[in-house]
Amino acid sequence: MEREFLFLKPNTVRRGLIGEVISRLERRGIKIIALKMIWVTKEQAEELYQEHKGKSFYNDLIDFVLSGPVVVMILEGPRVIEMVRHIIGNTDPLKASPGSIRGEFGMSVTKNIVHASDSLESAKREMKIFFSENEILNYRLDVQHDL
Ligand code: TYD
Ligand code: MG
Repeated sequence: MEREFLFLKPNTVRRGLIGEVISRLERRGIKIIALKMIWVTKEQAEELYQEHKGKSFYNDLIDFVLSGPVVVMILEGPRVIEMVRHIIGNTDPLKASPGSIRGEFGMSVTKNIVHASDSLESAKREMKIFFSENEILNYRLDVQHDL
């Protein structure tokens, strides 16, 4: 079983697309084991995007992520990281396939609807920035995976 960290960016919340995005994950049989709406702090944003520090888009990215509430979650399932990255699509909504979340709702590279960790290591690191162990719930989802 893998765990994936994902959040809905502020524009997704402002545009009223929380349900749309979560629905797509649920329909794909993805299990949500932690979920909350928060206003990210500057410290959390900088820790999350530490690999991009110094890049041309970094300041705009941090400002954007701090511009409104986000919905953070932890997902669990077999190969869930690969599956989620596939469902959300390319970082650039122009390159994301039309059926993907970013391909359908994305407006620009920065405002690309969701963030999702790209590896087991980053998922582990990123979920710790936003969740404590006691916020992660253990329950059974009635979905059969044969991956
Ligand atoms: P990155 O980790 O490369 O993409 P992904 O979100 O698909 O893992 O980049 C992190 C975020 O930084 C990305 O979601 C949007 C923003 N970004 C820009 O604003 N401009 C850029 O040129 C890139 C590469 C990323
Ligand atoms: Mg990334």
